[in-house]
Amino acid sequence: FSAVVLKLFWIKYPFLLFLNPRMKRGCALNYVLCAVCTATVFLTWEISVLYLHVPPSPRLPPISPRLSHITILLWVHPFGVVAPLPDCWKQFQINGCMITDDKHAYRQVDAVIFHHRDIGNGRARMPTEPRPRSQKWIWLNHESPTNSPGLQQFDRVFNLTMTYRVDSDIYIPYGHLIPVVNGSGSLDQTTSLHRPSRLLAWVVSDWSDSHARVSFYNELKRYVNIDVYGSAGKPLKKGIEAVLELLRDYMFYLAMENSQHTDYITEKLWNAVRAGAIPVVLGPSRQSYERLLPPEAFIHVDDFPTVEELAQYLNKVMQNPDLMKHHLSWRQNYSVHLSTRNELYCDACEVVRRTRGQTSVVPHLKDWFCS
Ligand SMILES: *[C@@H]1O[C@H](CO)[C@@H](O)[C@H](O)[C@H]1NC(C)=O
Ligand SMILES: *[C@@H]1O[C@H](CO)[C@@H](O)[C@H](O)[C@H]1NC(C)=O
Ligand SMILES: *[C@@H]1O[C@H](CO)[C@@H](O)[C@H](O)[C@H]1NC(C)=O
Repeated sequence: FSAVVLKLFWIKYPFLLFLNPRMKRGCALNYVLCAVCTATVFLTWEISVLYLHVPPSPRLPPISPRLSHITILLWVHPFGVVAPLPDCWKQFQINGCMITDDKHAYRQVDAVIFHHRDIGNGRARMPTEPRPRSQKWIWLNHESPTNSPGLQQFDRVFNLTMTYRVDSDIYIPYGHLIPVVNGSGSLDQTTSLHRPSRLLAWVVSDWSDSHARVSFYNELKRYVNIDVYGSAGKPLKKGIEAVLELLRDYMFYLAMENSQHTDYITEKLWNAVRAGAIPVVLGPSRQSYERLLPPEAFIHVDDFPTVEELAQYLNKVMQNPDLMKHHLSWRQNYSVHLSTRNELYCDACEVVRRTRGQTSVVPHLKDWFCS
């Protein structure tokens, strides 16, 4: 508004000058004033166009014309827990993606996501209408083959896979590292630098004597002291923050998966990393872990010929600041990103867009997933 008032004033002023009878008598001062006023009008106009009327930092439109719009239908909310769906643009700056859970949209959507746990009982819980020709069915699974019943029913059903396996069409690890610039926001900054006072912890809620991790634990505890928490050990407060708080006191954490399968690495690893404890891992191969972390960031149970030697090494690190540094200094250059479900849906949308117009079928789901 003030810009408008200013403009009116400066535009009118030169006219008033010209109408001034003294002007006709050719007063030089008036010519100068007039020139100044005219120049000012243009200047203020320019300034107002440049600075005052520019809309605040223009955001890209949600859909740029060159991007095709993709809609994905989430067939059932994972575990039946209905959660708000994302706005992929607002939350993740992923353009032209729409995620819906409205089954009425089935015929129009580009892809449908099926969470394995919610269809694992059979095809009965899947669409009965025929699949539109260009529609892709996406198989979403976070669990390992051991905990994924019913895999054999799904040969030649899905078009894309969405799992923690690196060879999935849509690769969804539980978390990943992000390099940081100049250490700001790094893991080092987010965890206090006090020296942990205790050696080794394990948090376990699902204890089963058939698990490889239980046999490993039974052997390891012969050589080192292990503090066990959770339903099978000392009580633990609820919530991830309580776990992280607890692990901050420890040099090492046993990040052992409930079953050993290709690339199956869960949040247990990331809990240790976030808390600043060095993960001692039992799961897939070292190579698999090295896709997620620098080689020295974790200790793999296969790194040592015997459990006893592994135990000796843990004690050695505890007493040797240089070794400690060797295993922890990478933390100054990385932060951790844990993926949320909503983010994964939006990532899936990008893959659907990229593979649009292509045909693909997952021929042998079980053979692939269990390999
Ligand atoms: C990083 O830190 C160095 C030295 O403190 C400084 O010269 C450089 O500009 C910083 N880089 C960025 C991207 O902040
Ligand atoms: C962290 O990054 C800086 C800059 O790239 C590098 O000089 C330093 O060696 C890195 N530190 C570690 C422990 O990798
Ligand atoms: C998806 O998979 C089905 C079942 O195998 C197949 O008939 C269809 O052609 C595939 N569609 C696309 C778009 O890949």
